[in-house]
Amino acid sequence: MNPAQTVVDPRVRAELNLAASWYIAFPTSQLATRPRPLMLFGRPLVAWRDRSGHAVLMPRQCPHMGASLAGGTVVDGQLQCRFHHWRFDGTGSCVEAPGTDRIPTRAHLRRYHTIERYGYVWVWYGSEEPMFPLPELPALGADRPGYRRFRLADSTGATVRRILENTYDPDHLVALHGLEVAGPCGLRMLADPQETHEHGPPIDPTAWLGAELTWPSYTGRLGRITRRLGTNAEEFTLRVDGWPAGQRISYYADGILQYRLLLATTPIAPNRTIQHITAAVATTGPRWRDLRNYLVNRLEITFASNQDLPIFDTIEPGDRHGIYLERDRGVLRFRKYYQEWVDRVADHA
Ligand code: FES
Ligand SMILES: [Fe+2]
Repeated sequence: MNPAQTVVDPRVRAELNLAASWYIAFPTSQLATRPRPLMLFGRPLVAWRDRSGHAVLMPRQCPHMGASLAGGTVVDGQLQCRFHHWRFDGTGSCVEAPGTDRIPTRAHLRRYHTIERYGYVWVWYGSEEPMFPLPELPALGADRPGYRRFRLADSTGATVRRILENTYDPDHLVALHGLEVAGPCGLRMLADPQETHEHGPPIDPTAWLGAELTWPSYTGRLGRITRRLGTNAEEFTLRVDGWPAGQRISYYADGILQYRLLLATTPIAPNRTIQHITAAVATTGPRWRDLRNYLVNRLEITFASNQDLPIFDTIEPGDRHGIYLERDRGVLRFRKYYQEWVDRVADHA
């Protein structure tokens, strides 16, 4: 069968510069019984739930005469177009076309692979079948004790790559985020997925990239505040690993876990991306200390994100600018890895 494809402008595709990967389509709470229109990968899509409750994501335009399927209704677990009542099942196949018993073979919509996890509908982009399983971060499981969780979602005029390469840029922690620390921030690229085993099941080694960032105790005003709050330490460590379109991050103070965090992305259109953060702050008791740690970490993460995103918005699209220092090697390493997964995207994806 030759599925009806959404035609993608090659310029849009080049500007999106997407890696073959797992992305967040939208939070699960945004998909109820009615079909939901959305823009994703620079394309108009429609999301709905089929007979088994599975989240289906497919091109929005009906292959008959192009009406929006987001205006249709779900009937018996199938999506019915409002215009002439053609019906599509959860695989994207047209299963009914009133007026004929010979449904055209091309009346088949390409369906994206989706998985629901941690309160999001995730979608695979880049090939018919996913090239690696969706990475997990068990600390985010609703049934997992020992954590308090929160989420952030922010729209930015940046690409997926820009959002994710930022984690591999230790120097901006001091400059942009104003970390006053007693010495330089260090970056060490990790060689083995086992070094991030604390995050959960290992990510497929072919899709994995990891690093460790460290910095010494806070000084100056930040040092005074954190000492008073009891949150300063001798050494802070950020251990990150990820797949091309997302990252798992753990943050430690003197080796004691503070939080685990998932950073993931929704590419809507060129230079329009949603950055998703979902964090699980560790609780160890007593209650007042847990609440303090939760509030401090939530504030820090939100504040840092509010400093990063406006900067991303000022960066000119494309790679025209680039005079790099040795200390930018983490960003350049991430870009190389990301590009390898852009190059794996199938022509028809
Ligand atoms: S346009 Fe959808 S059924 Fe005719
Ligand atoms: Fe940052």
